[in-house]
Amino acid sequence: MKGIILAGGAGSRLYPTTKVYSKQLALIYDKPLIYYPLSTLMLGGVRDVLIISNEETIPHYRNLFGDGSHIGMSIDYAVQDAPNGIAEAFIIGADFIGDDSAMLILGDNIFFGNMEFYYDAVESFQHGATIFGYRVQDPERYGIVEFDKAGKVLSIEEKPSKPKSNYAVPGVYLYDNRVVEIAKNLEPSARGELEITDVNRVYLEKGELTVEIINRGVAWLDTGTPEALLAASNFFGVIEERQGLKVACVEEIALYKKFITRAQFDELVASMPKSAYRDYLEKLELE
Ligand code: TTP
Repeated sequence: MKGIILAGGAGSRLYPTTKVYSKQLALIYDKPLIYYPLSTLMLGGVRDVLIISNEETIPHYRNLFGDGSHIGMSIDYAVQDAPNGIAEAFIIGADFIGDDSAMLILGDNIFFGNMEFYYDAVESFQHGATIFGYRVQDPERYGIVEFDKAGKVLSIEEKPSKPKSNYAVPGVYLYDNRVVEIAKNLEPSARGELEITDVNRVYLEKGELTVEIINRGVAWLDTGTPEALLAASNFFGVIEERQGLKVACVEEIALYKKFITRAQFDELVASMPKSAYRDYLEKLELE
Protein backbone atom coordinates (compact mmCIF):
# COMPACT_ATOMS: atom_id res chain seq x y z
CA MET A 1 0.00 0.00 0.00
CA LYS A 2 1.23 3.50 -0.92
CA GLY A 3 0.83 6.45 1.44
CA ILE A 4 0.05 10.06 0.61
CA ILE A 5 0.32 12.97 3.02
CA LEU A 6 -1.61 15.98 1.77
CA ALA A 7 0.22 18.88 3.32
CA GLY A 8 -0.63 21.98 1.30
CA GLY A 9 -3.84 23.89 1.74
CA ALA A 10 -4.65 27.55 2.21
CA GLY A 11 -4.28 27.58 6.00
CA SER A 12 -6.47 30.67 6.04
CA ARG A 13 -7.55 30.09 9.63
CA LEU A 14 -3.93 30.50 10.69
CA TYR A 15 -3.40 33.81 8.88
CA PRO A 16 -1.05 35.73 9.12
CA THR A 17 1.41 32.96 10.05
CA THR A 18 0.50 30.93 6.98
CA LYS A 19 1.43 33.84 4.69
CA VAL A 20 5.01 32.63 5.07
CA TYR A 21 4.75 29.30 6.80
CA SER A 22 3.00 26.04 6.00
CA LYS A 23 0.63 24.83 8.69
CA GLN A 24 2.18 21.34 8.67
CA LEU A 25 5.54 22.80 9.71
CA ALA A 26 4.02 24.37 12.81
CA LEU A 27 5.52 23.10 16.04
CA ILE A 28 3.41 20.62 17.97
CA TYR A 29 5.22 20.67 21.30
CA ASP A 30 8.67 19.46 20.17
CA LYS A 31 8.44 18.56 16.49
CA PRO A 32 6.76 19.76 13.29
CA LEU A 33 3.13 18.79 12.83
CA ILE A 34 3.88 16.64 9.75
CA TYR A 35 5.81 14.14 11.93
CA TYR A 36 2.49 13.02 13.42
CA PRO A 37 0.71 11.95 10.19
CA LEU A 38 4.00 10.51 8.89
CA SER A 39 4.24 8.32 12.00
CA THR A 40 0.66 7.18 11.54
CA LEU A 41 1.58 5.90 8.07
CA MET A 42 4.78 4.28 9.38
CA LEU A 43 2.91 2.52 12.20
CA GLY A 44 0.49 1.22 9.57
CA GLY A 45 3.50 -0.37 7.84
CA VAL A 46 3.48 2.03 4.87
CA ARG A 47 7.01 2.71 3.62
CA ASP A 48 6.38 4.43 0.26
CA VAL A 49 5.12 7.93 0.87
CA LEU A 50 4.31 10.90 -1.34
CA ILE A 51 4.17 14.30 0.32
CA ILE A 52 2.02 16.76 -1.62
CA SER A 53 2.28 20.45 -0.91
CA ASN A 54 2.71 23.82 -2.59
CA GLU A 55 5.86 24.71 -4.46
CA GLU A 56 7.30 27.01 -1.75
CA THR A 57 7.01 24.42 0.99
CA ILE A 58 8.29 21.26 -0.72
CA PRO A 59 11.95 22.31 -0.18
CA HIS A 60 11.30 22.48 3.59
CA TYR A 61 9.88 18.97 3.64
CA ARG A 62 12.81 17.80 1.57
CA ASN A 63 15.15 19.32 4.17
CA LEU A 64 13.31 17.45 6.89
CA PHE A 65 13.03 14.04 5.29
CA GLY A 66 15.17 13.86 2.11
CA ASP A 67 14.44 10.63 0.28
CA GLY A 68 13.43 9.00 3.57
CA SER A 69 16.12 6.31 3.39
CA HIS A 70 17.61 7.30 6.78
CA ILE A 71 14.37 6.07 8.38
CA GLY A 72 13.97 3.12 6.04
CA MET A 73 11.34 4.86 3.96
CA SER A 74 11.01 6.01 0.38
CA ILE A 75 9.67 9.57 0.36
CA ASP A 76 8.69 11.45 -2.81
CA TYR A 77 7.32 14.94 -3.26
CA ALA A 78 4.76 16.48 -5.59
CA VAL A 79 3.30 19.95 -6.03
CA GLN A 80 -0.35 20.91 -5.74
CA ASP A 81 -0.61 24.25 -7.53
CA ALA A 82 -3.60 25.45 -5.53
CA PRO A 83 -5.82 23.99 -2.79
CA ASN A 84 -8.21 22.43 -5.30
CA GLY A 85 -9.53 19.86 -2.86
CA ILE A 86 -8.45 16.76 -1.01
CA ALA A 87 -9.45 14.34 -3.77
CA GLU A 88 -6.96 16.00 -6.12
CA ALA A 89 -4.26 14.08 -4.21
CA PHE A 90 -5.14 10.97 -6.24
CA ILE A 91 -4.79 12.77 -9.57
CA ILE A 92 -1.46 14.31 -8.58
CA GLY A 93 -0.37 10.98 -7.10
CA ALA A 94 -1.64 8.74 -9.94
CA ASP A 95 1.82 7.69 -11.19
CA PHE A 96 3.09 7.25 -7.65
CA ILE A 97 0.15 4.99 -6.78
CA GLY A 98 0.65 2.93 -9.95
CA ASP A 99 -1.26 -0.34 -9.54
CA ASP A 100 -1.36 -0.27 -5.75
CA SER A 101 -3.93 0.70 -3.17
CA ALA A 102 -3.49 3.98 -1.33
CA MET A 103 -3.81 5.42 2.11
CA LEU A 104 -4.32 9.18 2.29
CA ILE A 105 -3.72 11.14 5.46
CA LEU A 106 -4.22 14.86 5.83
CA GLY A 107 -1.13 16.69 7.01
CA ASP A 108 -2.91 18.31 9.92
CA ASN A 109 -4.54 15.17 11.37
CA ILE A 110 -3.11 13.59 14.51
CA PHE A 111 -4.12 10.28 16.08
CA PHE A 112 -3.04 9.13 19.50
CA GLY A 113 -4.08 6.33 21.83
CA ASN A 114 -5.30 2.82 21.26
CA MET A 115 -4.76 2.42 17.53
CA GLU A 116 -6.10 -1.15 17.19
CA PHE A 117 -8.99 0.17 15.08
CA TYR A 118 -6.43 1.40 12.56
CA TYR A 119 -4.08 -1.60 12.57
CA ASP A 120 -7.06 -3.91 12.07
CA ALA A 121 -8.42 -1.82 9.20
CA VAL A 122 -5.05 -1.68 7.43
CA GLU A 123 -4.40 -5.38 7.92
CA SER A 124 -7.80 -6.50 6.69
CA PHE A 125 -8.05 -4.02 3.81
CA GLN A 126 -8.49 -5.69 0.42
CA HIS A 127 -10.73 -3.66 -1.85
CA GLY A 128 -13.27 -0.86 -1.83
CA ALA A 129 -12.79 1.99 0.61
CA THR A 130 -12.37 2.09 4.37
CA ILE A 131 -12.91 5.32 6.25
CA PHE A 132 -13.47 5.98 9.94
CA GLY A 133 -16.11 7.60 12.12
CA TYR A 134 -15.19 9.62 15.19
CA ARG A 135 -17.71 11.15 17.57
CA VAL A 136 -17.46 14.95 17.74
CA GLN A 137 -19.35 17.70 19.44
CA ASP A 138 -19.47 20.02 16.43
CA PRO A 139 -20.52 17.86 13.44
CA GLU A 140 -21.33 20.88 11.23
CA ARG A 141 -17.58 21.32 10.64
CA TYR A 142 -16.88 17.89 9.16
CA GLY A 143 -17.86 15.22 6.67
CA ILE A 144 -20.55 13.29 8.57
CA VAL A 145 -21.66 9.65 8.25
CA GLU A 146 -25.17 8.44 9.02
CA PHE A 147 -25.77 4.79 10.05
CA ASP A 148 -28.74 2.55 10.57
CA LYS A 149 -29.06 0.47 13.75
CA ALA A 150 -27.02 -2.37 12.23
CA GLY A 151 -24.15 0.01 11.54
CA LYS A 152 -24.77 0.13 7.77
CA VAL A 153 -23.83 3.48 6.22
CA LEU A 154 -26.86 5.36 4.88
CA SER A 155 -25.38 8.68 3.86
CA ILE A 156 -22.29 10.82 4.00
CA GLU A 157 -22.49 14.61 3.86
CA GLU A 158 -19.85 17.34 3.81
CA LYS A 159 -20.28 20.03 6.51
CA PRO A 160 -24.07 19.54 6.82
CA SER A 161 -26.12 22.37 8.36
CA LYS A 162 -28.40 19.69 9.89
CA PRO A 163 -26.06 16.78 10.71
CA LYS A 164 -27.68 13.34 10.75
CA SER A 165 -25.18 12.03 13.31
CA ASN A 166 -22.26 13.12 15.47
CA TYR A 167 -19.79 10.91 13.60
CA ALA A 168 -17.20 12.86 11.65
CA VAL A 169 -14.89 11.31 9.07
CA PRO A 170 -11.25 11.94 10.11
CA GLY A 171 -8.55 12.62 7.55
CA VAL A 172 -7.28 9.09 7.03
CA TYR A 173 -8.72 7.05 4.19
CA LEU A 174 -7.91 3.67 2.60
CA TYR A 175 -8.77 3.07 -1.05
CA ASP A 176 -8.25 0.44 -3.67
CA ASN A 177 -6.66 1.38 -6.98
CA ARG A 178 -9.95 2.56 -8.52
CA VAL A 179 -9.69 5.75 -6.47
CA VAL A 180 -7.48 7.29 -9.16
CA GLU A 181 -10.15 6.92 -11.85
CA ILE A 182 -12.89 8.01 -9.47
CA ALA A 183 -10.97 11.18 -8.60
CA LYS A 184 -10.30 11.93 -12.27
CA ASN A 185 -14.03 11.79 -13.00
CA LEU A 186 -15.13 14.12 -10.19
CA GLU A 187 -16.64 17.53 -10.82
CA PRO A 188 -15.64 20.37 -8.49
CA SER A 189 -18.21 21.13 -5.78
CA ALA A 190 -20.02 24.44 -5.25
CA ARG A 191 -16.96 25.67 -3.31
CA GLY A 192 -14.74 24.76 -6.27
CA GLU A 193 -13.00 21.74 -4.70
CA LEU A 194 -12.65 18.07 -5.62
CA GLU A 195 -14.31 16.69 -2.52
CA ILE A 196 -13.16 13.55 -0.73
CA THR A 197 -16.76 13.11 0.38
CA ASP A 198 -17.74 12.68 -3.29
CA VAL A 199 -15.10 9.92 -3.65
CA ASN A 200 -16.56 8.21 -0.59
CA ARG A 201 -20.06 8.57 -1.98
CA VAL A 202 -19.05 6.72 -5.17
CA TYR A 203 -17.84 3.79 -3.06
CA LEU A 204 -20.99 4.00 -0.92
CA GLU A 205 -23.19 3.76 -4.03
CA LYS A 206 -21.26 0.66 -5.14
CA GLY A 207 -21.83 -0.86 -1.69
CA GLU A 208 -18.06 -0.88 -1.10
CA LEU A 209 -17.62 1.72 1.61
CA THR A 210 -16.69 0.46 5.07
CA VAL A 211 -16.82 2.83 8.01
CA GLU A 212 -15.00 1.73 11.15
CA ILE A 213 -16.02 3.50 14.32
CA ILE A 214 -13.15 4.80 16.44
CA ASN A 215 -13.66 4.16 20.12
CA ARG A 216 -13.43 6.77 22.83
CA GLY A 217 -9.90 5.80 23.88
CA VAL A 218 -8.45 7.53 20.86
CA ALA A 219 -7.58 11.19 20.48
CA TRP A 220 -8.14 12.57 17.00
CA LEU A 221 -6.93 16.13 16.74
CA ASP A 222 -7.09 18.28 13.65
CA THR A 223 -4.98 21.31 14.02
CA GLY A 224 -6.39 23.98 11.74
CA THR A 225 -6.84 26.83 14.21
CA PRO A 226 -4.56 28.59 16.73
CA GLU A 227 -6.62 27.12 19.60
CA ALA A 228 -6.29 23.60 18.19
CA LEU A 229 -2.52 23.98 17.69
CA LEU A 230 -2.08 25.14 21.28
CA ALA A 231 -4.32 22.34 22.59
CA ALA A 232 -2.34 19.73 20.63
CA SER A 233 1.00 21.11 21.88
CA ASN A 234 -0.24 21.05 25.47
CA PHE A 235 -1.69 17.57 25.04
CA PHE A 236 1.55 16.04 23.74
CA GLY A 237 3.64 18.09 26.17
CA VAL A 238 1.72 16.58 29.08
CA ILE A 239 1.94 13.01 27.74
CA GLU A 240 5.63 13.20 26.83
CA GLU A 241 6.66 14.81 30.12
CA ARG A 242 4.65 12.36 32.17
CA GLN A 243 5.90 9.18 30.49
CA GLY A 244 9.31 10.24 29.29
CA LEU A 245 8.34 8.80 25.91
CA LYS A 246 8.04 10.74 22.70
CA VAL A 247 5.03 10.62 20.43
CA ALA A 248 5.58 10.59 16.65
CA CYS A 249 9.33 10.29 16.90
CA VAL A 250 9.93 8.94 13.40
CA GLU A 251 13.45 7.61 14.11
CA GLU A 252 12.16 5.61 17.07
CA ILE A 253 9.29 4.23 15.00
CA ALA A 254 11.69 3.29 12.17
CA LEU A 255 13.73 1.22 14.65
CA TYR A 256 10.67 -0.27 16.37
CA LYS A 257 9.17 -1.29 13.01
CA LYS A 258 12.56 -2.66 11.91
CA PHE A 259 12.66 -0.33 8.91
CA ILE A 260 16.29 0.29 9.95
CA THR A 261 18.84 -1.71 11.91
CA ARG A 262 20.23 -0.70 15.31
CA ALA A 263 23.54 0.21 13.62
CA GLN A 264 21.78 2.50 11.13
CA PHE A 265 19.81 4.03 13.97
CA ASP A 266 22.95 4.69 16.04
CA GLU A 267 24.65 6.33 13.07
CA LEU A 268 21.60 8.51 12.45
CA VAL A 269 21.43 9.63 16.07
CA ALA A 270 25.16 10.39 16.10
CA SER A 271 24.63 12.76 13.16
CA MET A 272 22.07 14.90 15.04
CA PRO A 273 22.97 18.15 16.76
CA LYS A 274 23.02 18.08 20.57
CA SER A 275 19.41 18.46 21.62
CA ALA A 276 16.76 17.00 23.88
CA TYR A 277 15.56 15.04 20.85
CA ARG A 278 18.99 13.44 20.39
CA ASP A 279 19.32 12.78 24.14
CA TYR A 280 16.04 10.92 24.05
CA LEU A 281 17.10 8.74 21.12
CA GLU A 282 20.51 8.04 22.66
CA LYS A 283 18.88 6.67 25.79
CA LEU A 284 16.27 4.69 23.92
CA GLU A 285 16.01 1.04 24.73
CA LEU A 286 13.26 -0.76 22.94
CA GLU A 287 11.59 -3.56 24.87
P1 TTP B 1 -8.42 22.13 5.41
O1 TTP B 1 -8.50 22.13 6.89
O2 TTP B 1 -9.65 21.80 4.66
O3 TTP B 1 -7.93 23.51 4.87
P2 TTP B 1 -6.61 24.36 5.05
O4 TTP B 1 -5.51 23.61 5.69
O5 TTP B 1 -6.32 24.93 3.72
O6 TTP B 1 -6.96 25.51 6.09
P3 TTP B 1 -8.10 26.63 6.11
O7 TTP B 1 -9.41 25.90 6.16
O8 TTP B 1 -7.79 27.35 7.40
O9 TTP B 1 -7.93 27.51 4.91
O10 TTP B 1 -7.29 21.11 4.93
C1 TTP B 1 -7.08 19.90 5.57
C2 TTP B 1 -5.70 19.40 5.27
O11 TTP B 1 -5.56 19.08 3.90
C3 TTP B 1 -4.59 20.38 5.57
O12 TTP B 1 -3.50 19.62 6.08
C4 TTP B 1 -4.27 21.00 4.24
C5 TTP B 1 -4.58 19.89 3.28
N1 TTP B 1 -5.13 20.32 1.98
C6 TTP B 1 -4.30 20.35 0.88
O13 TTP B 1 -3.10 20.07 0.97
N2 TTP B 1 -4.83 20.67 -0.33
C7 TTP B 1 -6.14 20.98 -0.48
O14 TTP B 1 -6.56 21.24 -1.63
C8 TTP B 1 -6.98 20.96 0.66
C9 TTP B 1 -8.43 21.30 0.55
C10 TTP B 1 -6.44 20.62 1.87
